[in-house]
Amino acid sequence: MKISKRLETIAELIPSHSKVIDVGCDHALLDIYLSQEKGCECIATDINQSALDQARYNILRFQVKTITILLADGLEGIPISDDDIIVISGMGTLTIEHILEGRKLPKRMIIGTQTDFEDLRRYVTSLGYRIQDEKYVEEKKKTYVIIDFVRGQENYQEEDYRFGPVLKKNLRFIENERDKVLEIIEQIPTGDTELEKKKRILKELEDLRKNL
Ligand SMILES: C[S@@+](CC[C@H](N)C(=O)[O-])C[C@H]1O[C@@H](n2cnc3c(N)ncnc32)[C@H](O)[C@@H]1O
Repeated sequence: MKISKRLETIAELIPSHSKVIDVGCDHALLDIYLSQEKGCECIATDINQSALDQARYNILRFQVKTITILLADGLEGIPISDDDIIVISGMGTLTIEHILEGRKLPKRMIIGTQTDFEDLRRYVTSLGYRIQDEKYVEEKKKTYVIIDFVRGQENYQEEDYRFGPVLKKNLRFIENERDKVLEIIEQIPTGDTELEKKKRILKELEDLRKNL
């Protein structure tokens, strides 16, 4: 079965035969892929009934028997064991925080987002996780960051939160982020306080790039 490069990158991080809780599964294509290709057992949840109807249709179509579908707001009422792997992808950082807040969470969580990577890193590490790996995916002119969090502690510097302890060594990521900041700077009027902030970030990115 063929899935998007973004979902495939998430799947590559998940060991065979894992038990996965996919929050916001939508079509459940990731779950079907993980079940078929890696022998995983999945709980596919979504807050939206029509998403789950589509998920159920896909699961039946691919004749997969190791996926349980649950209607839920985030992790509300979802049974979680320490060895499960939570996957959250395709949501904004505020929604992710709402989903994780006050929950008993497993050892490992793989979270993909398009924006606010810095806030996401700060928040999840504040819950007692460290960053084991990070992936950068470019697909259909969009870019995605996928972060593999495991329970633990690490002393991070500001640039680790901002650009990622793994991604700060990724030239492609750094150059793309630099280009995005440059584009924003061109639109900010002179004298605006935001301009100085963006120029500082640009300098940090340039320094990282020069050292790669
Ligand atoms: C853009 S889709 C992403 C689907 C899939 N995870 C992916 O990465 O391709 C986001 C999904 O998250 C669901 N969602 C949004 N907020 C949610 C919440 N609080 N709890 C569960 N699902 C949520 C939406 O209904 C939607 O199906």
